[in-house]
Amino acid sequence: MPVTQFELPDKYQYQNGLGSYHETEAVEGALPVAANNPQKAPYGLYNEKLSGTAFTAPRCENQQSWLYRVLPASAHSPFEPRETDSFNTNPGDHGRDRWHQIPNQLRWDPFDLDETVDWVHGLKLVAGAGDPTMKCGLGIFIYAAGKDMDAHQAFYSADGDFLIVPQHGALDVQTELGKLLVRPNEICIIPRGIRYRITLPEGPVRGFILELYQGHFHLPELGPIGSNGLANARDFQAPIAAFDEDTENEYTLLAKFGGHLFAAKQKHTPFDVVAWHGNYYPYKYDLGRFNTIGSISYDHPDPSIFTVLTAQSNHPGTAVADFVIFPPRWLVAEDTFRPPWYHRNTMSEFMGLIQGQYDAKTGGGFQPAGASLHNVMSAHGPDASTHEKASNAELKPMKVGEGSMAFMFESCLMVGVTEWGLKKCAKVQADYNAESWESLKPHFRRPTPAKLVNGTSNGVPGSIGDQGQVPHWTS
Ligand SMILES: [Fe+2]
Repeated sequence: MPVTQFELPDKYQYQNGLGSYHETEAVEGALPVAANNPQKAPYGLYNEKLSGTAFTAPRCENQQSWLYRVLPASAHSPFEPRETDSFNTNPGDHGRDRWHQIPNQLRWDPFDLDETVDWVHGLKLVAGAGDPTMKCGLGIFIYAAGKDMDAHQAFYSADGDFLIVPQHGALDVQTELGKLLVRPNEICIIPRGIRYRITLPEGPVRGFILELYQGHFHLPELGPIGSNGLANARDFQAPIAAFDEDTENEYTLLAKFGGHLFAAKQKHTPFDVVAWHGNYYPYKYDLGRFNTIGSISYDHPDPSIFTVLTAQSNHPGTAVADFVIFPPRWLVAEDTFRPPWYHRNTMSEFMGLIQGQYDAKTGGGFQPAGASLHNVMSAHGPDASTHEKASNAELKPMKVGEGSMAFMFESCLMVGVTEWGLKKCAKVQADYNAESWESLKPHFRRPTPAKLVNGTSNGVPGSIGDQGQVPHWTS
C-alpha cells in the first residue's frame, strides 16, 4: 500500500484535498449559512477574515478563510521586541550576520539536536535569498528542539509560508484552524499568519523548513503526464475545527515579523476558532503517497519529475521554490548511467536527507539530518564511488532508495548562506570536493588510430596542422 507505516499512529481527523474549499465546525450550527459576516454570528462568536492573498487576486489564485471565534485575533496588547540578540531570521538583514554568497559546493554533517529550546527558539536560518519585508525569495531553516512550547503561547510568521520537513521526532501542531500530527516522512505547510503551538509527543525533534516569502505552494502542472500522478490533491490533509475555551489565563503571542521576534499578551486563548470555511489553511502530506514516475526506456529524466509542490515565479515554469523528493523507486532504464548526471544548474539546489541513503551519494558523507547546497552553476553530480559502481552495474531492473527519503529545495534564486550555516554550526565538511569529485579518474583513451578534428593535436602539444589532423574546414 503506498502509504508510510508510521510507528506513531495519528490521533486527529482531517479533511482531504489540496486547494479545496473546506468548511468545518466543532459545534453544530457554528458556521453561518450563506452569509460570511452576519450581524450576529451563531452562538455569540465573532466573524473574522484571514486573507492569504490580496482581496483582488484572481479567483484561481485567491486564498482566504472565514473564522468564527470566541474573541478576535486583534484582542492583544501591543507587540514588544523579544530576543533581539539571538533571533534573527531575515536573510536580507545584513546588520549582524554576514550573508555569504559563494560558489562552493557545500555539504553539512548532520545538524545537532538541541533539547534545551522550544520550536520558536530552535529555528536556525541556514540559507536563503530575498527579503521577507519585500515579500520576495525564501529562507531555509534547520530546526532542533526538545521542549514543548509553553502551554500559554502561540507563534506565527508574518514573513511567509512554512513548509516543514521533519527528520526526527513528531510534531503535534495545534493551529487556530485545528490540529495536525506531523511525523518524519510527512510534510506540513503552515501558511503565513496562522497561529500555532508545537508540542513534542515523542521528545526531541529536528528537521528542515523552507519559508516561502512570496506566493503559495501549488501542485505542479502535469502536462503530458495527464490528470493524475506525482502528488495527488486528494492526499493532502487539512485539519478540522477544534477549539479551546479560556478567557481567564494570560497568553503570549509570538510573531516573526521581518525576521525578528516580537511578543504580545492577551487574556484569552488564541485557539478559540469554533468553525471556519475557506481555502487558506494548514495542511500535511505523507511523502509515502507520492506517485513516482520515471523513464521506462532510457536516460535519466530531469529531477523535476519528482516535484511535490511548487511556488512559481512570474516566469512560467521557473520556481521560486520547488519541493522535490527522491523516494524509493524502480530503475529500469536500458543502456543508461542511472544516477543523476553531472550537471550545472541555473537553479540553486539545497538537499537534505530524512532517512536512509541517497542513491546518488553512496560514499557516506551525505547522512540523515545532513544537507548539501549546490548553488547557481556550481558543478556537481555523483561521487566517485557512485560513478564507479553505476558505470559497471548490471542494468537489470532494480529498486533503489528502499527505506530512504531525500529531498530538495530548488530555487531560481542564488542562495546565500548565513554566518551560522557556514561557520557557527560547525557542520560544513571541508573535504566535500576532495571526497566527491577531485578523486574522479579520467577514463578517456584515444582510439587507435584516432581520427582527430577541429585542430586537436596528435601527440605534439600545441601543434596545428600536424599530420593526422583533420580540421573541420577541410573537405
Ligand atoms: Fe543537482
